[in-house]
Amino acid sequence: MTRHAKHVRIVEVSPRDGLQNEAAVIPTDAKVDLVRNLVAAGAREVEVGSFVAPKWVPQMASTADVVSAVKDIPGLEGIVLVPNMKGLERAIEAKVKRIAVFPAATEAFSQRNLNASMADSFSRFAEVARAALDAGLKVRGYVSVAFHCPFEGWVDPDAAIGLTSRLLDAGCYEVSICDTTGRATPGHVLPVIEPVVAQHGSERIVAHYHDTFDQGLANALWSWNAGVTAFDASAGGLGGCPYSPGATGNIATESLVHMFDGLGVETGFDLEKLASATRGIESCLGRPLKSAFK
Ligand code: HMG
Ligand code: MG
Repeated sequence: MTRHAKHVRIVEVSPRDGLQNEAAVIPTDAKVDLVRNLVAAGAREVEVGSFVAPKWVPQMASTADVVSAVKDIPGLEGIVLVPNMKGLERAIEAKVKRIAVFPAATEAFSQRNLNASMADSFSRFAEVARAALDAGLKVRGYVSVAFHCPFEGWVDPDAAIGLTSRLLDAGCYEVSICDTTGRATPGHVLPVIEPVVAQHGSERIVAHYHDTFDQGLANALWSWNAGVTAFDASAGGLGGCPYSPGATGNIATESLVHMFDGLGVETGFDLEKLASATRGIESCLGRPLKSAFK
């Protein structure tokens, strides 16, 4: 097992996980500028939007336009969230090369977020993954509410561990383990992170921590100690999930980069350019974001 990696990957999720919860419609140009600025700051893998039902998440209705506008940005590997076959059709039509599927580790969250039971939504995602792989796409997996659920409380680690294996078996190249509510502490994440890294290897596991209770960096550091080499993060700490009441954004990418810079761990990001990307989207939102790097 790789421990204390000297290089980590950061997947920038702000254009999707960050913006999906914004009530006011954000112009497509501002989303495109955000992606462009993130890539200029060193981001390679960026989740640029989602092909979900627009009546569920209206903010993401412009994803096809965003995808089309960013497709020629050199170095960008765009990822798009897909909930069902209809979403996959839209992704293929938009010529997306990577999608993400996102089952949940609890029944209540699955119902709220996907309008389906865990069993039904997993079958749907497995079908989407098969069809996407057949079409030559790469598929990423998320385990939502891996540690804590806004409706059911603390989650049995076996639920997230089992779902991770099933997503990898379904053909996902990596699985992102998510603290959707941002409530978990290192004491909650390690009982999931340690076994999945031991079972599947560092290369296939990503940590996705929301920062609602200021635990994000502590969780990231303990996960890095446990061998994790890839993290999802969001510029400025932007975001939240529309189906996780009160949850705030992911760890600010700036904070994660700053921590790893201090540890001598390479991220490939330029902190100043990242702060500039955050300022750009801040000016569009008209309110300051959490990150202290300005
Ligand atoms: P449903 O209402 O049961 O679906 O939603 P349906 O099949 O009955 O369709 C209803 C309508 O939506 C129909 O249109 C469909 O055509 C349309 P109508 O006939 O009423 O005009 N529709 C679509 N339109 C465009 N694209 C599609 C699509 N699918 C249906 N793909 C569904 C079921 C899964 C679609 C819905 O629940 C959904 O879109 N859910 C996604 C919710 C979401 O995006 N949540 C936030 C992302 S997850 C997250 O943030 C957590 C994460 O970050 C990790 C973490 O931190 O935990 C990943
Ligand atoms: Mg999230």
